[in-house]
Amino acid sequence: MPAKGLTSEDYNAFRTFLENVSGIVLGDNKHYLVTSRLTRLMKEQNIESFSVLMQHIKRDGKLRHRIMDAMTTNETSWFRDSYPFDILKEQLLPEFAKKQARQVRIWSAASSSGQEAYSLSMIVSEYFQKRPGSLPANAVQILGTDISPTVLEQARSGFYEGVAASRGLSEERKRRFFNQTGAGWQVKDDIRARVSFRELNLMQGYAALGKFDIIYCRNVLIYFSADLKRDILTRMARTLNPGGFLVLGGSESISSYSEEFELVRWRNGVIYKLA
Ligand SMILES: C[S@@+](CC[C@H](N)C(=O)[O-])C[C@H]1O[C@@H](n2cnc3c(N)ncnc32)[C@H](O)[C@@H]1O
Repeated sequence: MPAKGLTSEDYNAFRTFLENVSGIVLGDNKHYLVTSRLTRLMKEQNIESFSVLMQHIKRDGKLRHRIMDAMTTNETSWFRDSYPFDILKEQLLPEFAKKQARQVRIWSAASSSGQEAYSLSMIVSEYFQKRPGSLPANAVQILGTDISPTVLEQARSGFYEGVAASRGLSEERKRRFFNQTGAGWQVKDDIRARVSFRELNLMQGYAALGKFDIIYCRNVLIYFSADLKRDILTRMARTLNPGGFLVLGGSESISSYSEEFELVRWRNGVIYKLA
């Protein structure tokens, strides 16, 4: 059954709902985006109009999850933008080794299907190969979190096919860190061993995660309002150990959202350090 059109009233109700549950802000003219992302789900659930969808959303938690899945942009790739990974290997891990850190906890906030968290783990293996014994063998632990249960399921499986198994990945790293399994590629156990995943909405509390030494929060703040960005960055600052680092996406910056970090310039980019 085709979904009936999205009236301005339905659209406004939907975008208020989306911002309240996920923080994602839709502009005034994203009717097309909403229609294109939700039409299939509505057909599948026999929901004939957006106003009926809005009624279902209120009482159906599973449907709310499916909508979250449909509305989030999960695009990611291996070693995306390379800079955040180069700086880990060449600056941050050596700095923790120099301080004789016993533990380095890294949080990949909004990890999508896991490529960021596993790429970090691969970098850790490459670092240990170059500087064995400079940190305790199990010192580095990586946690990936995301709001979307579907991407987390793939992240936990560590299994990738087609473009998802190759975008950003050199042949050498593919050979070294994956096993070919049927039609796809399975991340090897030693890389998976230091990575875990859990569901987390960045609008909710972080206390249960414990403290981190480095937070990667990339390509997600762009979807949020200025107030929510400020709130998230303030709470991330509290989640970092003293001297901890924050790495944002290439098009994101702290700008006026937080005064708790100082800029660290390295090569042609920047990251942030807890002041
Ligand atoms: C574009 S991906 C970024 C993935 C990865 N960090 C990268 O840079 O390649 C954005 C991710 O943010 C997640 N996301 C959106 N809103 C969120 C929220 N409120 N809490 C947690 N994750 C959220 C989406 O599910 C999606 O997987």
